[in-house]
Amino acid sequence: MDAVFIFSAIFLCGSLLSQATAGLVEDKQALFDFINNIPHSRSLNWNVNLPVCSSWIGVACSPDNSRVIALRLPGVGLQGQIPPNTISRLTAIQILSLRSNGLSGPFPPDFFNLTNLSFLYLQFNHFSGPLPLDFSAWKNLTIINLSSNAFNGSIPSSISNLTYLTALNLANNSLSGEIPALSLPSLQQLDIANNSLTGKVPKSLQRFPISTFLGNNISFTNSPPVLPVRPPASQPSPSSAKLSESAILGIIAGGCVLGFVIFASILIAYCWKRKGDNGLAGKAQKGERSPEKAVPGSQDGNRLVFFEGCNYAFDLEDLLRASAEVLGKGTFGTAYKAILEDTTTVVVKRLKEVTVGKREFEQQMDLVGSIEHENVVELRAYYYSKEEKLMVYDYYSEGSISAMLHGKRGEDRTPLDWETRLRIAIGAARGIACIHTENGGKLVHGNIRSSNIFLNSQNHGCVSDLGLTTLMSPIIAPAISRATGYRAPEVIDTRKATQPSDVYSFGVLLLELLTGKSPVHATGGDEVIHLVRWVHSVVREEWTAEVFDVELMRYPNIEEQMVEMLQIAMACVMRMPDQRPKMPDVVKMVEDVRRVDNGNRPSDEIKSEASTPPPPPPPPPQAVVGMESSCPL
Ligand SMILES: *[C@@H]1O[C@H](CO)[C@@H](O)[C@H](O)[C@H]1NC(C)=O
Ligand SMILES: *[C@@H]1O[C@H](CO)[C@@H](O)[C@H](O)[C@H]1NC(C)=O
Ligand SMILES: *[C@@H]1O[C@H](CO)[C@@H](O)[C@H](O)[C@H]1NC(C)=O
Ligand SMILES: *[C@@H]1O[C@H](CO)[C@@H](O)[C@H](O)[C@H]1NC(C)=O
Ligand SMILES: *[C@@H]1O[C@H](CO)[C@@H](O)[C@H](O)[C@H]1NC(C)=O
Ligand SMILES: *[C@@H]1O[C@H](CO)[C@@H](O)[C@H](O)[C@H]1NC(C)=O
Ligand SMILES: *[C@@H]1O[C@H](CO)[C@@H](O)[C@H](O)[C@H]1NC(C)=O
Ligand SMILES: *[C@@H]1O[C@H](CO)[C@@H](O)[C@H](O)[C@H]1NC(C)=O
Ligand SMILES: *[C@@H]1O[C@H](CO)[C@@H](O)[C@H](O)[C@H]1NC(C)=O
Repeated sequence: MDAVFIFSAIFLCGSLLSQATAGLVEDKQALFDFINNIPHSRSLNWNVNLPVCSSWIGVACSPDNSRVIALRLPGVGLQGQIPPNTISRLTAIQILSLRSNGLSGPFPPDFFNLTNLSFLYLQFNHFSGPLPLDFSAWKNLTIINLSSNAFNGSIPSSISNLTYLTALNLANNSLSGEIPALSLPSLQQLDIANNSLTGKVPKSLQRFPISTFLGNNISFTNSPPVLPVRPPASQPSPSSAKLSESAILGIIAGGCVLGFVIFASILIAYCWKRKGDNGLAGKAQKGERSPEKAVPGSQDGNRLVFFEGCNYAFDLEDLLRASAEVLGKGTFGTAYKAILEDTTTVVVKRLKEVTVGKREFEQQMDLVGSIEHENVVELRAYYYSKEEKLMVYDYYSEGSISAMLHGKRGEDRTPLDWETRLRIAIGAARGIACIHTENGGKLVHGNIRSSNIFLNSQNHGCVSDLGLTTLMSPIIAPAISRATGYRAPEVIDTRKATQPSDVYSFGVLLLELLTGKSPVHATGGDEVIHLVRWVHSVVREEWTAEVFDVELMRYPNIEEQMVEMLQIAMACVMRMPDQRPKMPDVVKMVEDVRRVDNGNRPSDEIKSEASTPPPPPPPPPQAVVGMESSCPL
């Protein structure tokens, strides 16, 4: 919190005190000339009217806001050659990251102008041709990452002039020739694996592990440096002494992989443990030492997979650097609110106990991610690795319906009016009905509850968190939790969610909207009350206003609608699955509630009379027709 505050305070003061200087105006023009002349698939908010230093995605300025000193555009789908004389005009730039794009052509020769450049990340592009012969212009280069491109030719020996260089990564290119005898005392990381280098490892570089040089045709003059990896203990020492060189390589490489995996888990766990706003604080403390911390898992096979139409511009590393705040612990894992460096806010769900393999996971994600419906919260991206399974959704600042219904009741809280509750019910019903038509009518939501329902831009309900049950081990029902209150009786035995059990959960949601009570709640004593049972018992006596939320009592003329809705809810929570209505029918019933005491008049006219005080005018229900949807609704 503090760090964020201080950070924004500095930003604010900075922008108030200093007018945009000539340097900044020119930098802005250079950025425009760059972005307007290169195809890119994600849109950036580089708008003339927005302040460059505080708003433009991927751009950072000097503390006095006089120059652009960092440009980070990883994974925004840049294509083709960098237009000449654009980025090279950002002469004060220190950090340049264009990694994970589709950039091609030679190493941009005009980068020589960027004499203050300290961190250069161009990995995972299609750059080709030779590396610059003379590196001496960039005296300050600290990290160079050109891996996974198509550079060829030899490694220039002028790299030796880079006295501050701490990391050099040229892996996965087509570099050939011998490795120059680089003398770089401050170099800590080197990776030139997977090239076509030949000859011997020069003495000055023999301190680096073998993995640095793998995938070339290189011989080691002296005995290779030893990693602290022991051969299997069962091996008697005489035979281990006779291990062939390739076996040793195998063992060492294996050790590297193992170490890598352990390191990755620790790092990811560490990043995610930093709750609150530590992400930003940590970054501020570390300063510019390593502005682009390498986070394992961002390699080609294991990156954040975005769905089409998503214009977020971040990747896994950005996500892991974001400040994260726990939103809630759900049935399938923990949800975080992640605020990225550029203030983009998303919800990241970290799944636990995923039991399926990568392919099955990806197939299910593709299925879920393909659903486009205004009443289904879109899955924006996902990530799968052995250690981590993440899902990325949009963030809804108003919170879930659960928060709206059960949040602290008091004077400063606006109660949910009936009109809004109706729209939540209608929206959620449409969303679930859409889900039930997917995958040949076989997709199940599996986790319908008020904490997974949000208000969309039209103030209708919008469902999230779908389709995860098939990825998990069967639900282990905790003795008493909110989730149990939504669970259909048969699911408690079979532990398998179905479409009829979705209908049951939706019925519980309706009861929640009507009563304002949680599906499982404690009374004064130790007694725990299940909402469905409680409603049954009250209703058995007679139709009584006691069921309904006291907060709804202030709205006149809605009792008939509430009773109608109660009947729908009771139908949905029928004990026998086959007695419950199907979701498309539920949609019709819920939509009809509004018309219940108004004959056949179109619902638009009714609203003005039916609800006082008038809520913000909801869009006509027809709004749902003609929207982009993969569901035939
Ligand atoms: C490079 O950075 C230094 C301070 O770090 C600054 O004084 C100098 O003006 C910069 N050079 C350019 C060309 O911006
Ligand atoms: C930048 O490079 C261009 C050639 O690409 C050159 O004409 C120009 O003088 C250079 N500017 C600076 C400040 O070095
Ligand atoms: C290198 O960085 C230092 C600060 O770390 C700065 O003072 C200096 O001007 C930079 N050198 C060049 C050539 O820009
Ligand atoms: C590098 O690749 C280009 C084609 O991209 C080729 O024309 C050139 O001969 C190659 N150079 C070397 C040294 O292999
Ligand atoms: C270092 O740079 C100077 C020019 O600045 C050049 O003469 C020298 O050859 C370079 N060193 C290497 C090892 O390339
Ligand atoms: C070298 O390439 C192989 C195959 O593409 C890949 O599996 C391996 O991870 C690469 N090694 C390094 C160090 O990048
Ligand atoms: C590896 O290099 C040696 C000479 O250093 C050469 O004889 C051999 O053919 C090369 N092997 C390959 C696969 O290029
Ligand atoms: C360079 O990029 C590769 C691939 O993303 C990454 O594995 C490596 O850690 C990076 N190295 C540095 C020093 O940033
Ligand atoms: C090299 O490519 C392989 C896959 O082809 C990838 O796994 C690895 O991370 C890459 N290494 C670097 C350093 O970019």
